[in-house]
Amino acid sequence: MKKNRRDFLKMTGLGIAGAGVLNSYASGSKNENDRTLAETMKEYEKNHKQSFNMSGYAATAINKVRVGIIGVGQRGPTYIKIMGRVEGVDIRAICDIRPEKAEVSKKMAENLGYNPDIYSGDKDAWKKLCERDDIDLVIVTTPWTMHAEMGVYAMKQGKHTAIAVPAAATIEECWQLVKTSEDTKRHCMMLENCSYHTFQMLTLNMARKGFFGEIVHGECAYNSSKMRNNFSKTMYWDMWWLKEYSKRKGNIYPTHGLGPVCQIMDINRGDKFEFLVSVESKDFMMGAKANELAATDSFYEEFANKDYRGNMNTTIIKTTKGRTIMLQHGATSPSPETYIHGIYGTKGAALKYPYPPRISTGNHKWASPEEFEVIQKKYSPEIIKVMDEMANKIGGHGGSDTYKCWRLIDCLRHGFPVDIDVYDSVTWSCILPLSSWSVHNQSNSIQIPDFTAGAWKSNERNMDIELKNYGKTLIR
Ligand SMILES: NC(=O)c1ccc[n+]([C@@H]2O[C@H](COP(=O)([O-])OP(=O)(O)OC[C@H]3O[C@@H](n4cnc5c(N)ncnc54)[C@H](O)[C@@H]3O)[C@@H](O)[C@H]2O)c1
Repeated sequence: MKKNRRDFLKMTGLGIAGAGVLNSYASGSKNENDRTLAETMKEYEKNHKQSFNMSGYAATAINKVRVGIIGVGQRGPTYIKIMGRVEGVDIRAICDIRPEKAEVSKKMAENLGYNPDIYSGDKDAWKKLCERDDIDLVIVTTPWTMHAEMGVYAMKQGKHTAIAVPAAATIEECWQLVKTSEDTKRHCMMLENCSYHTFQMLTLNMARKGFFGEIVHGECAYNSSKMRNNFSKTMYWDMWWLKEYSKRKGNIYPTHGLGPVCQIMDINRGDKFEFLVSVESKDFMMGAKANELAATDSFYEEFANKDYRGNMNTTIIKTTKGRTIMLQHGATSPSPETYIHGIYGTKGAALKYPYPPRISTGNHKWASPEEFEVIQKKYSPEIIKVMDEMANKIGGHGGSDTYKCWRLIDCLRHGFPVDIDVYDSVTWSCILPLSSWSVHNQSNSIQIPDFTAGAWKSNERNMDIELKNYGKTLIR
């Protein structure tokens, strides 16, 4: 990382102090009075020249996509399970710092007919995986504080990268991913499965076909209690999730809700983010639970008496075209989980969560189940017609993981642009440090960088739900 960081400083011409600011709000910086982040971001943006536009970029087709995966805890094995069934994939290498995890995943891959090598045991073993010359795609499913470093390194070794959400945790990391992807012409796709949920794809198609009129407002959320999993001693490597909640502020998991709304609003391709404000409740629950557990179990002592992230963060984004997005992340509520997906236009609206999903045709009523079915039939995009049965059979977050893996591999095998490019990946992820800044600064507004360097005005749509580019890759 040190080397990448030096390269980045050299590349940007920013002084150490400037880069320090870009990197702040990274590890829970509580520098509440820091008002220089906005100025530093602006200065960097002004000096940044896009070396190549990765939006719509079609890389050389790769008939057999040789895959290496880093981090096989809870999430990583899903990619082995699903990608391993997509035609034209060869799982060549698996890395996890914990040998036992790598072994379990190797067995899983062997059961699907692959024979991957294992890299394990030390914290830098993943570099050897990236350095192999017989790998085309590196999937990164480690804790998100590691994503950018691993993604940048993989691209510099000539590999396309697919990174779990969020792709980056600081503004500096966002720019590193952009710069590296442009310089190396390697894809950097964030693995946002919510973009492939059927209702999200349906509403995307409806928006593109004009059903909603002008989109005015979007609502989105990842509200899901982490009270059990985060405090489990065995669920996550090194209790990393609880550590993040114990030292950060802001929306630390923005992309599930935000991604699909951005695609509907054509963010980075016709519209872009302008600024955000972020308001956060106090923590009423995580700190209390940590203290309670620590009173009887010394394992939890390191988590006691910490300033936990507030239980509910609400961030509002304004776009250049004048739209608004309300984005939430709650991680403690005893309510059922709510992954809100709300689209409000001049002619119609749609809302998912609480279930069932609903659609309004502009008459101030939600459509009846019969009317809903008619609309659904009319606006279902080609991707759902082609894949839904198979996606349901294989599963993974309601089938969305299957859609995503299959699309990524089909695009790589046939040299099509990927559905989520590096600009999308970092635009959706930069909410982490920026919402943190806002919370630390009495919910003041902060400008959101234009990672496309102005190309948003002419970039074309890339989430290809109508399968204009379709190589008919099969799934077994
Ligand atoms: N729906 C989704 O898209 C979704 C769902 C869950 C998790 N995620 C994302 O997936 C990522 C992983 O989450 P998880 O739940 O699997 O966490 P996890 O703790 O279960 O897994 C992370 C793995 O990374 C390994 N690791 C840590 N340091 C490493 C290193 N230096 N080299 C190699 N391996 C290392 C750990 O041993 C662990 O097995 C996170 O970024 C998370 O945000 C996404």
